[in-house]
Amino acid sequence: MTTIKKIGVLTSGGDAPGMNSAIRAATRTALYHGCEVVGIHEGFHGLLNGFFSTLEAREVGGIIQRGGTVLGTARSQEFREESGQARAAEQLAAHHIDALIVIGGDGSMRGVQALAQRGVPVVGVPASIDNDIWGTNMSIGVDTALNTIRSAIDKLRDTASSHRRAFLIETMGRNCGYLAVMAGVIGGAEVVLIPEAELTIEEAAQAVEKAHRLGKTHSIVVVAEGASVKIQDLARRLEELDVGFATRIPILGHVQRGGRPSPFDRLLATRLGVKAAEALLGGHSGVMVALRGRA
Ligand code: F6P
Repeated sequence: MTTIKKIGVLTSGGDAPGMNSAIRAATRTALYHGCEVVGIHEGFHGLLNGFFSTLEAREVGGIIQRGGTVLGTARSQEFREESGQARAAEQLAAHHIDALIVIGGDGSMRGVQALAQRGVPVVGVPASIDNDIWGTNMSIGVDTALNTIRSAIDKLRDTASSHRRAFLIETMGRNCGYLAVMAGVIGGAEVVLIPEAELTIEEAAQAVEKAHRLGKTHSIVVVAEGASVKIQDLARRLEELDVGFATRIPILGHVQRGGRPSPFDRLLATRLGVKAAEALLGGHSGVMVALRGRA
């Protein structure tokens, strides 16, 4: 087993609130154990292009509470190819980086496996607002995103109620309905549309119509971006059926990815960041640190 003296840290894929807390924890843990730490900027793209800087304890100071990622992130097409992965392993060797911590989503975790298969000691940290990463109960960023969506729905409900409207709200999540389901539950939605359990437009429209019939002054519908029913088609259908509510489609978009990480995300990211560095130094590779159980 190679002795690990220098560890690279990168963030990859869509940013997620709490990534900075993970960078900070991983860096300081590695430094504590006597390693050098290299920050790799702009994810695997930066790894392939040599965007490196040394990280000391002070470089990761004052970031635990900041959204986004101070290292920057990217989605690298080149790294998806085998040739890109081979070049990434060469880059690490050329810069004497003995091991790597990858903080990112499911695509990034596939990158972890690819590099581990090439003999690079590498550990993954799950970070994505989508909560679609296998093996962990929660990914970094999910809790903050849910808080952002919850706050938006609470505000939208006020105006929906005043105008007797139905608000159709799309949540991010790619092919995963987690954010939509949770937002629907905590936001008191009439109906939630997700890729994993599809409803038809007619079923969704009936739920909204029923809410109106029962005397509700507004209706909230949450649609996961991966659902097959498209939000504009549902709005059009509700208008055609004249269910009793005028419709509006507020766009939350990338607001869901930003903002200061919640206490839960800061704690989760700190714990996972520490564990990732310890796992590497303990000889693990090709694995992801994860939250199992509830706490
Ligand atoms: O994976 C995070 C995510 O925000 C998804 O929910 C969404 O589908 C995607 O990234 C958006 O990607 P981009 O920021 O590249 O538009």
